[in-house]
Amino acid sequence: MKAIRTGATPSTLEALEYGDVADPREPGPGEITVELKASSLNYHDYAVVKGMIPCKQGRIPMSDGAGVVVAIGTDVTEFSVGDPVVSTFFPEWLDGGPPTTAFTRVPGDGIDGYACEAVTAPSTWFTRVPKGYGHAEAATLTCAGLTAWRALFVDNAIKPGDTVLVQGSGGVSIFALQFAKAAGATVIATSSSGAKLERLQSLGADHLINYREVEAWGPKALELTGGRGVDCVVEIGGAGTLDQSMLATRVGGHVALIGVLAGFAGPVQTGLLMAKNLRVQGLTVGSRQQQLDMIAGIEANGIKPEISDRFPLERLADAFRHQESGSHFGKIAVEI
Ligand SMILES: NC(=O)c1ccc[n+]([C@@H]2O[C@H](COP(=O)([O-])OP(=O)(O)OC[C@H]3O[C@@H](n4cnc5c(N)ncnc54)[C@H](OP(=O)(O)O)[C@@H]3O)[C@@H](O)[C@H]2O)c1
Repeated sequence: MKAIRTGATPSTLEALEYGDVADPREPGPGEITVELKASSLNYHDYAVVKGMIPCKQGRIPMSDGAGVVVAIGTDVTEFSVGDPVVSTFFPEWLDGGPPTTAFTRVPGDGIDGYACEAVTAPSTWFTRVPKGYGHAEAATLTCAGLTAWRALFVDNAIKPGDTVLVQGSGGVSIFALQFAKAAGATVIATSSSGAKLERLQSLGADHLINYREVEAWGPKALELTGGRGVDCVVEIGGAGTLDQSMLATRVGGHVALIGVLAGFAGPVQTGLLMAKNLRVQGLTVGSRQQQLDMIAGIEANGIKPEISDRFPLERLADAFRHQESGSHFGKIAVEI
């Protein structure tokens, strides 16, 4: 079968290789073989293929994989041949609290991922997909979708009347916008682009801030909430945006610390954190059960992901160059 593999250590986009690898084995007990049809790009995958996360040479990248079950082993009761399925980010984190294995067992990082035509794996490494979803749509859920879901509904309990602030127009943030609106929340969306802000508005964002033009967007968000502050910030910037996020958040509110787009480390206003009784909580994606809960929530609300661009598997490096340019809106899909 065909696959993309990293061709250098540390990995570079130029060295990604599209070529033949061994076909997947026949499924054993509890396993399924999935013919992969789609993946989607996350910043985490970008960090792998750019060599920012050390991985062994020859690694098949991509954490997100969606496709069709083509063979099942004995003892598999959840799926049948022909079922559409989507991968989970932490294959062994089925339920309960976060795992201790961190990224050593994440497909496309610690183990081979889904930039390939087929895979045989335990059936629990996949879940069903929302009814009416195509493969590319399903593939967006593994990382970006579930991260947004967990921020709002596992680590928080966003409800009608709450206010959520989402940063930028990437995959996680647009899912968070859609989930927050479905929950009846008011959404403040930021972006570096006026055109993207208009698109965010068409997806339901109630208030818009251009974070390039309004550097003090935290106080601006505070003002938009009548001085109360937002209940939750979906923090995808990290060190460089945390100060503004804390300023934007209400006393006792929650900052879901998800991303590193504005830096991995930096000073924290600990006085403000304390005085506002804030809860800044780091998170890494979620469990298989949370993915199933998200899928039920998506079906109940008819939510579809925003996919601005699609690339064939063999052009994966170009897909990452496109992500690098920042011109995407929501998700970039890979068709296999
Ligand atoms: N912890 C986890 O479990 C987890 C899971 C998924 C993702 N992440 C992290 O979350 C971050 C976003 O991931 P993603 O896949 O959604 O990325 P993405 O789709 O590539 O999003 C990129 C967008 O983020 C916005 N952005 C960049 N810098 C910004 C800043 N300083 N302030 C506000 N917005 C900014 C930009 O939006 P505009 O063009 O509109 O300005 C940019 O287009 C990454 O750091 C990623 O590693 C973490």
